Amino acid sequence: MLDLIVRQANLVGHAQPQDIACRNGRIVEISPHIEGEAARILDATGRLVTPPFVDVHFHMDATLALVGQPRRNESGTLLEGIALWGDLKPEQTAVRIKERALKLLSWSIARGTLAIRTHVDICDPNLTAVEALLEVREQMRPYVDLQLCAFPQDGYLRDPNAREQMARALDLGVDVIGGIPHFERTMAEGAESVRLLCELAAERGLRVDMHCDESDDPLSRHVESLACQTVRCGLQGRVSASHLTSMHSMDNYYVSKLLPLMAEAGLHAICNPLVNMVLQGRHDTYPKRRGLTRVKEMLACGINACLGHDDVLDPWYPLGTHDMLEVAHMGVHALHMSGIAEMQSLFQAVTANSARAMGLEGYGIETGCHADLVILQASDPVEAIRLRANRLFVVRRGTVIAETPEVRARVTLDASEQEVDFTV
Ligand code: FE2
Repeated sequence: MLDLIVRQANLVGHAQPQDIACRNGRIVEISPHIEGEAARILDATGRLVTPPFVDVHFHMDATLALVGQPRRNESGTLLEGIALWGDLKPEQTAVRIKERALKLLSWSIARGTLAIRTHVDICDPNLTAVEALLEVREQMRPYVDLQLCAFPQDGYLRDPNAREQMARALDLGVDVIGGIPHFERTMAEGAESVRLLCELAAERGLRVDMHCDESDDPLSRHVESLACQTVRCGLQGRVSASHLTSMHSMDNYYVSKLLPLMAEAGLHAICNPLVNMVLQGRHDTYPKRRGLTRVKEMLACGINACLGHDDVLDPWYPLGTHDMLEVAHMGVHALHMSGIAEMQSLFQAVTANSARAMGLEGYGIETGCHADLVILQASDPVEAIRLRANRLFVVRRGTVIAETPEVRARVTLDASEQEVDFTV
């Protein structure tokens, strides 16, 4: 007997609705009509069924840290956020970090986000957050693919202890090597940190994901070093560059040289529209820059562009529920990507593209893939973004792990009643 059959699923790339059969945690058949019995049958009634949302850029050690705090990031700048986090860090205990992470993950799951790469600050000498999130990763493994990225928040060279802390974090089992070259003391030290961290990744056989050029400075050009070191160390396809906001302000001629370098290195580029719309352009008067990286141009160049959520209720972002459709929705506006194909590509940026950057095995809706899927209260990716659609069912390894009732409003005009769910 099958574990699950999803009937009448609208799948991207199929002209007709399909049935999906799942057994032992895998998709075993996709066809217009599947006979047989299953422990559970879900009728998608022609709605969009998608692989889970993937958040390839998050900060789980800081998430929900603002809850109950009297202080906020009043200027809305990256630098006040880093200073505020520096003040909050000593108050963080393993118990609190775990509690907050698990609460956030219950939201992520309800939103259908089942794979997350989280940066974890390694500059605390006790590595409290590292140890707490390693435990969370193991505890939540049946439900969520959680990758940890060792993030030297205070600078790999600027913090005198960061090199040793990085090695300890990796020895404990952190998955990915991070960095923050634009926060080092000088451009030269930033470039040096990129070289050292790429060499470390090559030595240890790990992926890299650096916070890179997260500023409005048109001359912050660490992504150039990252592309160069990626090729030199043979890390093509295993390195992500996160944020890249300085590319917004760079000279167009220089960008025409930079994009092919990034493509040649197989860099994955991660844009965080919700958070960088808040943080960037804060030193401008008017006009104010959006400060997001050049996603449209990257996609045209064959660079794997992804979108991340980055933060929820922490020193850098005061809102959020870990909803990747909200991220894509902001991307449509702030990246000027409102064409139909462009909106479809932003849906890919919060699903398949990000899965590729994380190197997830068995991701997708194909026979043989993990039976992980989300049934949305929308018919296609564009409608899903427009509605930031309700996740009716979230399935992990063939089992429903989250359900949300259909959202409908009842409108009464004179004596006549009608129901609306905003679909067309
Ligand atoms: Fe970040």
